Amino acid sequence: MKSIYIFGNWKMNKTFTETLEFLDQFKKEYKKNKKNLREDMTFGIAPATINIPAFQLNEVKELKLCAQNVSCYESNAHTGAVSSEMLKDLNVEYTIVGHSDKKKDNNESHEKTNLKVRELLKYDITPIVCIGENLEEYEKGLTEKVLKNQIEEIFKNVDYSRIILAYEPIWAIGGNNTPAIETIQKTVEYIKTLTSKDIVIIYGGSVSINNINEIFENTCIKGFLVGNASLEVNKFMELLKAKKYEKQQ
Ligand code: PGA
Repeated sequence: MKSIYIFGNWKMNKTFTETLEFLDQFKKEYKKNKKNLREDMTFGIAPATINIPAFQLNEVKELKLCAQNVSCYESNAHTGAVSSEMLKDLNVEYTIVGHSDKKKDNNESHEKTNLKVRELLKYDITPIVCIGENLEEYEKGLTEKVLKNQIEEIFKNVDYSRIILAYEPIWAIGGNNTPAIETIQKTVEYIKTLTSKDIVIIYGGSVSINNINEIFENTCIKGFLVGNASLEVNKFMELLKAKKYEKQQ
């Protein structure tokens, strides 16, 4: 796997038409900016599931297609669900699972997230697996305990070398509040002791051009899962070409 990852999670934003407009504009900006991007960077967008087919018209092959969710089942009687096989058929390479929005909206259990991870791996789609503590847990100093529990349940029978783990403190999502750099680093080190020293860990929660370099340079974080700042081509491109990436090896 390459060493830096930046994925945009569009959540429930953009219509099919707006998705096509983004891709068209991205193509133009990418041409202009390609030389300013690190060569060892992997980047992609997770559009709403219904808009995944718009990426058939994506002409920038470096812009990877991600999904925001997948069924934990293989096929058959699961009305409204989308399987790993269906995603694979549309060239999806990465899929977010266990996002706190899903836990909030659908009460998704860790057991279901684990099944999703394993389904995706059957089809060689890389799961981007979210874990993180909520505000109350953070304030009570329970972060490590909560993460340990999530890791034990979500990663049962999962090969850490085949996944990307996204550490997303739930309280940091969708605002402009992030944990202190030392806290992020301490948490990442802790996650590594529970999983593998080589696991790819990315960070998500209020990532923007104002904090991306600082987090990247001062922690073992290998990349970012970005919500709001990935919705506009210019903002997303700013993140991709954040200057200090060029220095970091
Ligand atoms: P945010 O979202 O960057 O808007 O905080 C991140 C996420 O939910 O993955």
